[in-house]
Amino acid sequence: MSGRESFWLVNLHPEPLDVRGEVAAGLAATPKHLAPKLFYDAAGSRLFDRITRQPEYYLTRTETDILRRFGAEMVRLAPRGAVLVELGSGTSRKTCWLLDHWTAGDLYVPVDISADALRIAARRLKRRYPHLGIRALVADYTAPVAWENYAPSPRLVAFLGSTIGNFEPEAAVRFLARLGAAVRPGGAVLVGVDLKKDVDALLRAYNDAAGVTARFNLNLLARCNRELGADFDLGAFGHAVRWNAAAGRIEMHLVSLRAQDVRVAGRCVHFAAGETIHTENSYKFTPEEFERLAAAAGLATRHIWFDADRRFGVYALVPR
Ligand code: TRP
Repeated sequence: MSGRESFWLVNLHPEPLDVRGEVAAGLAATPKHLAPKLFYDAAGSRLFDRITRQPEYYLTRTETDILRRFGAEMVRLAPRGAVLVELGSGTSRKTCWLLDHWTAGDLYVPVDISADALRIAARRLKRRYPHLGIRALVADYTAPVAWENYAPSPRLVAFLGSTIGNFEPEAAVRFLARLGAAVRPGGAVLVGVDLKKDVDALLRAYNDAAGVTARFNLNLLARCNRELGADFDLGAFGHAVRWNAAAGRIEMHLVSLRAQDVRVAGRCVHFAAGETIHTENSYKFTPEEFERLAAAAGLATRHIWFDADRRFGVYALVPR
């Protein structure tokens, strides 16, 4: 709790990330992989912020435009007395397009793993909305915890950025079902969803010409060097983006550019030439596909707001 600062920051003490364990397990597996949550150290978070501003990365810009145009309609889903919850709120930069119209209640509950991001966001929002109550929660929103205990219901829960696309479909269904239970009857879930489109546009979004996404991906190996004393030669790995049509997802990999052995976490890991480490999936949906996914989670689609080119959709989902 921040007494002098007129907002609350409650630390629910998310499980600290076991970098060594995650890396050792991922690199011992076949095929090799590294968990996406390893992306977001300080350097990675800065790079991700830059990704969202690359010209090829249309997702953030497009979703923000949708919120700007339709935010007033979106908040009308919230019943009187509702609290606005945002999962993975980060810097809360898009949220002003909801908060500008937020008259249902007087409480905003941003939930994020980064206390720093929450503090910065809460200070800024407090200046813009002096009468808004802010209860920031430092928490892993995927853990079976209890942000629910800190946000009175009914709720409008926002889950933006197409982060739902970074879950495996079965996990996405389970997660959405949990949100549906948490909003209670009368509440609603707002989910940002990146849509299927021209494959070249998708590939370019994850392989920007300035090389920011490549650096973001390679930062995983740099992080292993920094934190685990690994000896990855960053010049010997490349950033690779693939469209997996059967699964409907963009895949990010790190490709070993030659056969090599790397010391990491006390082990020697062999890479064949061309072998990859799978680092992230980003599922893309047709509007109907996502509607079916939500239905499998017991949620009905009340409305979908699109941009003019139908590149991205913001879904209003309600428990059935
Ligand atoms: N959810 C967004 C997406 O899938 C943001 C994101 C998550 C991302 N991990 C990423 C963007 C890795 C680029 C690279 O696009």
